[in-house]
Amino acid sequence: MSDKIKESYKASKNIYDDVLTQGSFRSRMYIKCFWGGVDDNEIAREVLKYIPDRFSGKLLDVPVGTGVFTHEKYRRMTKADITSLDYSEDMLEQAKTRFENDGTTNIHTVRGDVGDLRFDDGTFDIVLSMNGFHAFPDKDRAFAEITRVLKPGGKLAACFYIKGRSLITDALVNNVLARKGWFTPPFDTSAQLMRRLERSYEVTNWHIRGSMVYFRAVKKGAGK
Ligand SMILES: C[S@@+](CC[C@H](N)C(=O)[O-])C[C@H]1O[C@@H](n2cnc3c(N)ncnc32)[C@H](O)[C@@H]1O
Repeated sequence: MSDKIKESYKASKNIYDDVLTQGSFRSRMYIKCFWGGVDDNEIAREVLKYIPDRFSGKLLDVPVGTGVFTHEKYRRMTKADITSLDYSEDMLEQAKTRFENDGTTNIHTVRGDVGDLRFDDGTFDIVLSMNGFHAFPDKDRAFAEITRVLKPGGKLAACFYIKGRSLITDALVNNVLARKGWFTPPFDTSAQLMRRLERSYEVTNWHIRGSMVYFRAVKKGAGK
């Protein structure tokens, strides 16, 4: 399964940014027809608003992908200690080049598996996870690991696909994207995701646009 993910993101590395940012007419048509026109650029902007530019703690970005949505934000976050992790070397390499070209020096790029994070418990103040959970092969482990490495009171800011909102999008996901390895089932509905989150988090912001959810949640256990 993991090698399928690696191969699929290797194959798409040169078109990934264009599709996600709707850089061409074809990409815009794809988003319009299969994703109800929901704009990933806009969702990314909303999620990134959950993180202040002046943030000066430790942030884990998993999966960083190519850094297409985050690199401009990170240029402004000069006081933060940022770790950007991805399973695909090909995606990570593009993120690394982007950060280098920007001249940012506070980002560590790390290859790894979200289901087996090599960080101590409570290492991070914020975990950012954009468009990752629909790709992660083991959602339970991904959630458990992200929660483990977050400090109590730490924040999870995320966006990703949820099933059950659009027949067309669900058909695309199951018949094409999952088969190719860009997405990996099983997927949560919004209700399943909320139940999962509420076990360990207080959900402070929650929005659904088409088949995409974005939210901010605070890990329980910080005390009064
Ligand atoms: C759709 S991309 C999202 C990238 C980026 N956050 C963005 O919004 O553009 C999904 C990413 O998840 C990564 N990925 C898949 N399984 C992973 C795992 N087990 N651990 C870490 N990253 C993983 C893929 O390599 C890919 O780069």
